Amino acid sequence: GGGLKLAAARTNRLIGTAVDDQKLSDPQYARALKADFNFVTCENCMKFDATEANQGSFSFGGGDALVAFAAQNNMTVKGHCLVWGQQLPGWIAGVGDLQKAMVDHINGVVTHYKGKVKYWDVLNEVIDDNPGSQDGMKGTVYQSRLGTGYVEAAFRAAHAADPDALLLANDYGVELMTDKSQRFYDMVSRLVKKGVPIHGVGFQSHFDGTEKLTDMATNMQRFADLGLFIMISELDVQYLKFPGSDQDKLKAQADFYKKVVSICMSQRACKAITTWGVRDSDSWLLTQIGPNEKPLLFDMKYTKKPAYSAVLDAL
Ligand code: XIL
Repeated sequence: GGGLKLAAARTNRLIGTAVDDQKLSDPQYARALKADFNFVTCENCMKFDATEANQGSFSFGGGDALVAFAAQNNMTVKGHCLVWGQQLPGWIAGVGDLQKAMVDHINGVVTHYKGKVKYWDVLNEVIDDNPGSQDGMKGTVYQSRLGTGYVEAAFRAAHAADPDALLLANDYGVELMTDKSQRFYDMVSRLVKKGVPIHGVGFQSHFDGTEKLTDMATNMQRFADLGLFIMISELDVQYLKFPGSDQDKLKAQADFYKKVVSICMSQRACKAITTWGVRDSDSWLLTQIGPNEKPLLFDMKYTKKPAYSAVLDAL
């Protein structure tokens, strides 16, 4: 079979994964990427701390390796991420003009990858988990020092650096109809109405498997109605919280994956699904949750799990 990517291409969808650039030289890892994916996001190598560890001096080694790999294998690249309250270099804390540092960072990175990185997560995780914060925004260094206006400046800087790039706001906990997704929607619709160059939204979709997905399609539709596309951008589904035996858990996890993919497939504006890693052993959740978590589509030996077949069926 042609794997996930052949199935996804039939409806012009992107099927992606987060990639660890350090593992690209491992032939088995590279082979797994080529077999199933037509879309890649660097898990860490395009973040602020990785690309501008010292102010004004950029390092693009990891990202360049990924971009070259993607070009050789007909894969689309999403850059992740330009503005985020985490994985920031130490110098940010003491910088005098943070607005200028932010714009210079965006300009430096997006210009370097102009024509090579088609999508950018301009914003990552800027919405607060709690109501009552200023404009519903998370209290990052950007928010506390610059106020909400940094959001618009970030999109404008990215658009100026590469007018052909498609720009997203990406966040977690915004997948369903919740107070947080309302705050996300309010920010995004304000930007759209103001003519700010934003083209899509990313629903990270780090699920623990207990979520009722009944209103995910309704939530997606309201973003589509703004003229935006939607990406399921960091999908993983925790396995440990499902009841029963290992086999029961794997089956329940597969059913959950199938629901998520089906929701995307029934929304024309849902263009992409990216899982946050290839194998269970690649997942960031091993350090977050524990060594027994198995949240992805392949096991550590690249064997396809029930979740893989479920995703393939749903595409
Ligand atoms: C995670 C990476 O997977 C880890 O390797 C790293 O140590 C921390 O960041 N939301 C995001 C991603 O937007 O950038 C995060 O990636 C996972 C949560």
